[in-house]
Amino acid sequence: MLVARREERLQQLAEVLTQKHGAATQILAIDLSQPGAAAQIKAELTAREAEIDVLVNNAGFSHHGPVTQVSVERLHAIVQVNIMALMELTRMIAPSMMARGRGRILNVSSVVGFTPTPFATVYAATKAFVTSFSEGLAEELVGTGVTVTALCPGTTKTEFAEAAGMTKTIAFRSGAMSAKEVAEIGYAGMMRGERIVIAGRMNWWMVFGVRFAPRKLVAKIAKKIMAQAD
Ligand SMILES: NC(=O)c1ccc[n+]([C@@H]2O[C@H](COP(=O)([O-])OP(=O)(O)OC[C@H]3O[C@@H](n4cnc5c(N)ncnc54)[C@H](OP(=O)(O)O)[C@@H]3O)[C@@H](O)[C@H]2O)c1
Repeated sequence: MLVARREERLQQLAEVLTQKHGAATQILAIDLSQPGAAAQIKAELTAREAEIDVLVNNAGFSHHGPVTQVSVERLHAIVQVNIMALMELTRMIAPSMMARGRGRILNVSSVVGFTPTPFATVYAATKAFVTSFSEGLAEELVGTGVTVTALCPGTTKTEFAEAAGMTKTIAFRSGAMSAKEVAEIGYAGMMRGERIVIAGRMNWWMVFGVRFAPRKLVAKIAKKIMAQAD
């Protein structure tokens, strides 16, 4: 079951999945920034008698600019989609996986979850939540047959940067991985039951390096990398 807001896009993807891969696909157009969206999805799943073996919490978006200049409504929507919907869907779907003794949960986080990231401050903080939540839950679920994986990509070529207004930042101008590559790495890591999957060697070294650097220095460097607005 594919979930996002733009129904036409979902329809196109569903057709590709069915025609090319023979996948039985359903779509559900829903806005995850609306409180109660996760419960609505759960109700749809129950109504359609759909059993979920793999839950992929992928939807997410960012702001660009100082927190004090981003509207409270946008910040609220970011927290609602990146944290609340992800946490509620996981909470609602994991028990049925546990009852069947198998299941995979893939939460799409980000390498910025490991670093304070000025000008994407709230976004990075939501990803810190996603990574921590996934790791904690993974440990709680040991022995149930259900695994939880946090996929942490670095910059990736999608519509993300444009939607956030950060295409001109050094972060996005200095190269990005393809979505296909990131998805394949995430899928493989999820199937191995890994808890944290960092996409790409460079990103792995970056996350490793920031562990040893003073947090203030990391924030200063991130500020430079993220400063240029579109
Ligand atoms: N691109 C990067 O550099 C990068 C790096 C690290 C992590 N990530 C993470 O990767 C994930 C996927 O992002 P992406 O890079 O593929 O960006 P994207 O191209 O902008 O895709 C975002 C996806 O989320 C859906 N979505 C956004 N807001 C939604 C809402 N309110 N309700 C329901 N669905 C919503 C979008 O569909 P609709 O617009 O049709 O709703 C779209 O399918 C996100 O969690 C992002 O934080 C991205």
